[in-house]
Amino acid sequence: MNTAIRLPIVCEAVAATRAVPSLWDDVARGLFSTPRHLPAKYFYDERGSQLFDQICNVPEYYPTRTENALLAEVAGDIIARAMPASIIELGSGMSRKTHHLLEACARQDCYASYAPFDVCDEVLLLAGERLMHEFPWLTVQPLSGDYSAGLARLPRRSERNLVAFLGGTIGNFSASESHAFLSELRAFMGPDDRLLLGADRVKRPEALHAAYNDFAGVTAEFNRNVLRVINHELGADFDLERYAHYAYFNPLESQIEMHLVAMAPQRVKFAVNDAVLELREGDTIRTEISRKFTRSSLEAMVCDAGFAVERHYESRAPAFSLVLARPV
Ligand code: SAH
Ligand code: TRP
Repeated sequence: MNTAIRLPIVCEAVAATRAVPSLWDDVARGLFSTPRHLPAKYFYDERGSQLFDQICNVPEYYPTRTENALLAEVAGDIIARAMPASIIELGSGMSRKTHHLLEACARQDCYASYAPFDVCDEVLLLAGERLMHEFPWLTVQPLSGDYSAGLARLPRRSERNLVAFLGGTIGNFSASESHAFLSELRAFMGPDDRLLLGADRVKRPEALHAAYNDFAGVTAEFNRNVLRVINHELGADFDLERYAHYAYFNPLESQIEMHLVAMAPQRVKFAVNDAVLELREGDTIRTEISRKFTRSSLEAMVCDAGFAVERHYESRAPAFSLVLARPV
């Protein structure tokens, strides 16, 4: 019987290096101007994170399965090159793919600690508990915060950090946002640190389209969840049933664009500030972009932010990339 007592894990807050707009600021700026848009981070309350976890299992959503299989194949090589004392994962969610890295660590006697960083405390704790159970040698220190508030105050517990940013989440930033984000990450990193970046690739528009329009409607539910969050946090009365999920691939921008379309005229009241939002039938709110890269556009983005590509691992079809990069 294992009599070791393990204390429950607690989240450590990452200090902001700059002020971030409140939900109301983002709503005021994003919904009361055209084109209407909202930052993607508001999807991820507890329910949103669970819905995202379900998206990862719908048959049409290939990125998770593909990245998972690729990581299983190359984790040994990544760990041999990075030899991390600590793995920091940004936007870690349920950390479902991370075990490949940790297994590779154990095989190579490289007992790294793990610091997942996310806006959603509930998933941080769930994932942390699960991984500590699976890897009894592992120390998990969940980091709670918003990466748009800055990365400079992330804890540096060693000189050999492997910073993982998986799931194609980099594609949820615009080109200028990704540049700013990766440059900030570069400034945080030391010479022996490594970046592991997962990114989705351009492919047949039909396959992309299907991935964001699953037949069971989980993605549609996830999309509408942002309105539920606003209703709850700002005392608004969005009628979720009246918004259609609309996601399509825009080949000119090489990105999926996800919208909520008002199916009838809407008058949305906000308890906060007594504001009223009028929408006409057919008006849309853009809730997410997901950029799709080519091998070269991805490498150019990484290099422009001050990294050199050490290895570029690719899946067989459907295409997905894992880039291992070092600061230059
Ligand atoms: N890495 C996981 C989850 C990807 S979904 C995977 O590959 O499956 C994106 C994750 O980023 C979610 O867990 C979400 O809560 C987190 N996230 C989104 N915006 C964030 C922000 N501004 N700061 C920190 N985490 C954020
Ligand atoms: N990073 C994921 C992606 O771009 C996030 C995601 C998956 C997502 N499915 C979604 C975001 C549907 C919004 C809606 O693929």
